[in-house]
This record gives sequence, structure tokens and C-alpha cells, in this order.
Amino acid sequence: MLTLVLAFAAATAVSTVTAYTWPSPQLDALEAARFDAHTGVLLAGVQPCDGFGGLPNTGRSNAADWVRTAYHDMATHNIADGTGGLDGSIRFEEERLRPENPGDGFNNTLAFLSATSNRYISIADSLALAAVIAIETCGGPEIPFRGNRIDATSPNSPGVPEPQQDIDSHIGAFARQGFNKEEMIGLVACGHTFGGVEHQTFPQIVPEMHDPKNKQSVQPFDSTFVTFDNNVATEYMSDTTQNPLVVALNDTFNSDKRIFGSDGNVTMKSFADSPSHFSSTCASLIARMIDTVPKGVQLTDVLEPLPIKPADVELQYDASRIKLSGNVRLWNTPEDDSRSVRLLYTDHLGGTGNLSLVFTGTFDSVGTKYTSAWYAFAPITQDNPFARVDIDPKSGIKSMSFIVNGKLEDQGGVGFAVEDRVMRSTSSCRVGGNISRIDVAVRTDASPLRVYVEELRFVFPHAPTIVEHDVPRPSGSQDQPYTIWSLNLAVPVEIGLMMYHIGAEFAGGVKYSTTSRYSAWASGPICADSQ
Ligand code: HEM
Ligand SMILES: *[C@@H]1O[C@H](CO)[C@@H](O)[C@H](O)[C@H]1NC(C)=O
Ligand SMILES: *[C@@H]1O[C@H](CO)[C@@H](O)[C@H](O)[C@H]1NC(C)=O
Ligand SMILES: *[C@@H]1O[C@H](CO)[C@@H](O)[C@H](O)[C@H]1NC(C)=O
Ligand SMILES: *[C@@H]1O[C@H](CO)[C@@H](O)[C@H](O)[C@H]1NC(C)=O
Ligand SMILES: *[C@@H]1O[C@H](CO)[C@@H](O)[C@H](O)[C@H]1NC(C)=O
Repeated sequence: MLTLVLAFAAATAVSTVTAYTWPSPQLDALEAARFDAHTGVLLAGVQPCDGFGGLPNTGRSNAADWVRTAYHDMATHNIADGTGGLDGSIRFEEERLRPENPGDGFNNTLAFLSATSNRYISIADSLALAAVIAIETCGGPEIPFRGNRIDATSPNSPGVPEPQQDIDSHIGAFARQGFNKEEMIGLVACGHTFGGVEHQTFPQIVPEMHDPKNKQSVQPFDSTFVTFDNNVATEYMSDTTQNPLVVALNDTFNSDKRIFGSDGNVTMKSFADSPSHFSSTCASLIARMIDTVPKGVQLTDVLEPLPIKPADVELQYDASRIKLSGNVRLWNTPEDDSRSVRLLYTDHLGGTGNLSLVFTGTFDSVGTKYTSAWYAFAPITQDNPFARVDIDPKSGIKSMSFIVNGKLEDQGGVGFAVEDRVMRSTSSCRVGGNISRIDVAVRTDASPLRVYVEELRFVFPHAPTIVEHDVPRPSGSQDQPYTIWSLNLAVPVEIGLMMYHIGAEFAGGVKYSTTSRYSAWASGPICADSQ
């Protein structure tokens, strides 16, 4: 019996460890968006938690918009046939302009999602993450986050509940989405701890307030409407609530009153009695909400932070040298002046490099639950403004590891592999007009079948798509460790900028894309050799 219990405990412990091996472009990007939120727009949008388009005193908040948008996108789910769910379908105007999706909060949210999405992160993942970051940053619990949601290619069927509908239709709508009555009460309370009802959207519920501190006339669901807390429940239970969906003069619109009371107040009382019960219930309900996806979508494991993570690792070929830049993140550790962090790398000829890294700062994550400490690969000096390390192209670079206070960190012996077969050359430049010359340095002995520029095309409010442009193979001798392949490309003048990755295909159909994203401009200095 005892052994059984121990075996079970061990199995549980192991199954919670879901770290992956770096590099994995999609997981690296999702992990960074989730745990290094200070590098993206979502955290900035909810710091402070009453942030709303930089405008003060609106009565609105991005945090509330994001949580509501995540629910409305998910609420089309039909558990019976697996259609709908959190798939970014709300970005289609046809769906967004339905009567069940009133207000401009969805479009406001999409501006943030477009800025968060990239080739590895869908609009749907960005939306799920926006809700998670809003809740975690504004006083809520840590929410397990998975990635790999797929963006719908067309609108979903309608299915978002509306306040004037009766309780049976709400119970029915949540059942279709996969939530029973108690879970419905929980999810509505967890959502309605943020935000409120806006006059312009629901003039039947909320009057114009003519309040300079509440310019959009929002009547909040609770007295702390930019903070995640159980006041939505305590105020409801103590009959002091001003929740407009409980106290509306026209009872038809009092959906929260009908929903909260639908189990005789048992669930709401449990929330009012215990902030921690409210918090933990919301963590699991919101996780289920964002993980409600169309049939066939395969979500990743719950993302866990890598204890040691290289970030922004970039190689550029610069006048017969390779310049390596990057950072390494030490997870959940405070600043420590006495800590020593070294980068050790191996090259293709069996040599090694070994240098001391420079502390650059600490950042909070998941609200203020965790702190990460960051180190750059080289000191930023006048001579080395981008903190780059020179690498000899003859030997190249194969793999990195780190030594933290004398302890080797190499992913259990695997090392942190670095790809040096293709990279941007700093000789890339603008030829003239909107024509940019993109120079790619290709390791000569890597012999790619194809090299191509992967142009990112952004069309609001969608995730970027990729258009490949083949780079012609250069003629002439290839006796140097690296050969420059060049392509002239027109940069879209109306945007003024083209963002791209570099891709290459090798024997056996093996493809590689730089995780680094580069830019070419339609104006600015032109190539020295074409002046
Ligand atoms: C029967 C179910 C629900 C109904 C009838 C309902 C109804 C409403 C209404 C009428 C508003 C005001 C919108 C506006 O004035 O712009 C609102 C706002 C909001 N809802 Fe719900 N809701 C429901 C469920 C949920 C759920 C499950 C969540 C999230 C888990 C949620 C999150 C929010 C948030 C955060 C706001 C505030 C938006 C803001 O202030 O910008 N709602 N809801
Ligand atoms: C939606 O947002 C985008 C970008 O923020 C803006 O250009 C557009 O005008 C908005 N559309 C509506 C209908 O508000
Ligand atoms: C309450 O709202 C409903 C739905 O809009 C409407 O049919 C009804 O007439 C309203 N009742 C009152 C008393 O205004
Ligand atoms: C729930 O509690 C509120 C606040 O005390 C009360 O007004 C309401 O009548 C109760 N509803 C039910 C169904 O017990
Ligand atoms: C790296 O350099 C440090 C300082 O010069 C040295 O103590 C250490 O042994 C070196 N480590 C390796 C693995 O070369
Ligand atoms: C580049 O400029 C030319 C000439 O002004 C123009 O015809 C062409 O459409 C531009 N290309 C792009 C992609 O904007």
C-alpha cells in the first residue's frame, strides 16, 4: 500500500514537469510571450490595470475588454459537434458586428492581439494570453496556459448569451459551451469582477452619467472593477451591489441576478465567504474557458518556464566575422551581484569559447509572483553597441551552455544548439527607391538546396502570413567559409517597411528558418556601392 502511494506521488510529480528542449521556435515564442511579458504589448496594456488607450477617466479598461473578448470568442463553442470555441473568429467583422457582440471593446482588443501575434503565435493564442495576463497582473491567480490554438478562417455560428434572455436559455447556452449551472455562475462571476456595462452600448440598462471621471458612463459590476477580487460576490451577498445586471430598473436585463441566484446563492455565498476559493475556482474555470477550442485543435502541454533560457539569440554575418548576440534568462531568482554567469560555446572544429556575461536587469512575471534575472552575451560598450561576440566563420558555432556560479547548465547534456548555416549579412542595404538588397550569408559546406526570404505580410486583424522569395544561388567560386547570396526585393511603399525571416531547405526536405526577424526599409540610407 505504501509503495503504491509513493509510486503515485512520483508519477504525479513527474507529470507536472513539462519543460521542453530549447530551441523549439513555437514553444520558445509562446513561453516568452507568457513568462517574459515585459517584452510585449499585453503587459504594457494592463499596467496600470485601469489602462485604456492611454486615456484617463474613461470608466473602461483594457483588462476588462480582453477578458470579455476571450469569453465572447469562446462562447460560440458547441460541445456536441466540436465547432466554435476560442479560435479568433471574433476578428471577422461579420461575427463582431452581430447584436450578441455589441460595443467597441472587441476591436480595441484586436489591436493588441495583432501586435502580439507572429508566425508562431495565432490571434487565438494571443487572445487567450491577453485574458491570462490581464487576470494575473490585476490581482488574480496564476492560470495554466497552453498554446497552439488555430485561427478560424471564417466566422462561427452565433451563440453568445445576452442579458435580456431568460435563465433557461443561459443554462442552455453554457451547457452547449461545456459548462454546467454552477460553472456558469462561476464563470460569470469571474468575468464580472472586471469592468461594467457601458451607457452607449446598453442605454436601456445604464444612463448617461455626465461624470468627468467616468467619461464613457460605465456602471461597474463591483466597486473594484479594475481588480480581480471577490467583491463581485461579497457585494452581491450583502445586498450592497451596484452591479447593473443585478439592479437594473428593467428586470428583463438582470441576467446576473437570475444567474447568481439560480442555485439558491450557494455558489455566490461560497465565493463571498472565501477569496481564495473564488480565486482558485476562477483559475480553473478561466483555464477551461480558454482551452475550449474547436475539435481537432491540439493544444500544447501547460507551458512551464525553462529554468535557464537563451533569448533573442541572433547571428549576423558582418565583414567576414560572425557576430553573436543574445541574452540568457535565469528563472525565478533575484538580482545577485555576486552571481557569476558564463557562456561556453563549442564550434564545428572542436574548439570552445568561454566568456563572462553581463547582468542587465530583473523583471517580474505572472503579476509579481516570479522574478527573472537577465544577462547579456557581451558588455554594451561604445565599441560593441549591440553587445555582440565575434565568432570566427571558419569554426562557426554549434552549441552553447552556461555556467552559473560554477554549475554547468546544458539541458542535461544536450546543450543549447545554435544554427549557423544561414544568417543575414550586415551588407544588406537599400539599393534605391523602394528596392532593398537582402544579403544572406550561407555556410558554404551546408550546401542548401534553396535559400529564401520569408516576407511577413500583416493584414489587420489577422496573424501574419509568409510569402517566400527565392534567393538566387550565386555563381563563381565558393572557397570562403561563407558565401553571400543576394536578392533585390521591393519593400511595400505604403508600409515603408518589410519584415522578414530567412529560410533554407536542405537535403531530405529539412527546412530551417531564422527565429530572428529582420527589417528592410523603403527609405533611408542607400548601399555604399550603388551611390
Ligand atoms: C450569460 C452570460 C453573460 C452575459 C449575459 C453577460 C453580459 C454582459 C454585458 C451586458 C456586459 C456589458 C458590455 C458593455 O457594456 O460593453 C458585459 C460586460 C462584461 N462581461 Fe459579461 N456577460 C456574460 C458572461 C460573461 C463571462 C462568462 C465573462 C468572462 C469570463 C464575461 C466578462 C465580461 C467582462 C470582463 C465585461 C466588462 C467589459 C468592459 O467593461 O469593457 N461575461 N457582460
Ligand atoms: C478597429 O481598430 C482598428 C485599429 O485599431 C481601426 O483602424 C479601425 O478603424 C477600427 N474599426 C472600427 C469599426 O472601429
Ligand atoms: C424592458 O425591456 C424589454 C426588452 O427590451 C422591453 O420589451 C420591455 O418593454 C421593457 N420594460 C419596461 C418596463 O420598460
Ligand atoms: C441571493 O442573495 C441576495 C442577496 O442577499 C438576495 O437578494 C436574493 O434574494 C438571494 N436569492 C436567492 C435565490 O436566494
Ligand atoms: C572558462 O573560463 C574561466 C575563467 O577564465 C575558467 O575558470 C574556466 O575553467 C573556463 N571553463 C571552461 C569549461 O573552459
Ligand atoms: C515600389 O515602387 C515602384 C515605383 O514607385 C512601384 O511601382 C511599386 O508598386 C512599389 N512596390 C511596392 C511593393 O510597393
